Amino acid sequence: DYILKPFEKDQLFLGVGRALQHRRLIIENRNYQRNLEQLVEERTAQLTAKHVELEQSYDDTLEALGSALDLKDAETEGHCQRVTEFCISIARAMPVPDQYLPILARAAFLHDIGKMAIPDGILRKPGPLNDDEKQIMRKHCEIGYNMLIRIPFLRDAAEIVLAHQEFFDGSGYPRGLKGEQIPLGARIFTIADSLDAMISDRPYRRALPMSHAREEIKRCSGSQFDPAVVDVFMTIPEQHWLDLREHLGSPFRLAHLKNL
Ligand SMILES: [Fe+2]
Repeated sequence: DYILKPFEKDQLFLGVGRALQHRRLIIENRNYQRNLEQLVEERTAQLTAKHVELEQSYDDTLEALGSALDLKDAETEGHCQRVTEFCISIARAMPVPDQYLPILARAAFLHDIGKMAIPDGILRKPGPLNDDEKQIMRKHCEIGYNMLIRIPFLRDAAEIVLAHQEFFDGSGYPRGLKGEQIPLGARIFTIADSLDAMISDRPYRRALPMSHAREEIKRCSGSQFDPAVVDVFMTIPEQHWLDLREHLGSPFRLAHLKNL
């Protein structure tokens, strides 16, 4: 605004009035903006909290599903938890993107969920399975995949579940995938799974010493396992696996894994 000389009283008052009005609008606008920012901040925090809560209840559901399998297949008791922790350790040493960790954790935890549909006579058979029984047992990968693929937030985990029995050289099942056709999560999982199987007692044999288990994984690099993942695995000291097995969270919480 401008004022002409010589000053005219009315015009001066009008000019000052306009200036004051202008200043008031600026202050009001600034306050409005500040309030808006605060409101957005508050709402974002509320939304984030809700998201965390929602993810937690998803994982609670998955844990319940996993323990249902434990009741049916006693041999796997504790196996799903250990294998999940082992997978996360290898993945973090790779490293893989942080967003991949919960996907991998859920897949590892539920890898054998398809065994729910395998008859007890086969699942709990004390002796070795015959060829027909083996065929039925092998279906657990596809069954698990079909269970999980319908749940949108488990889609990537379902792909890992489907591929968890594939071998790097293409000699695994169900699709005989080779090398990088196998999802990275499944290539990590097979090492974690074999490690836990070897260092655990089985009805027909005692647990192997950790050093022996590591050597065996190295020996199968390139055939059963991805050599790149084996190299990473071998950089992790034996003591890490022993500590992890001893101090497995009790009760085990799937949802906490991603914050490891
Ligand atoms: Fe399996």
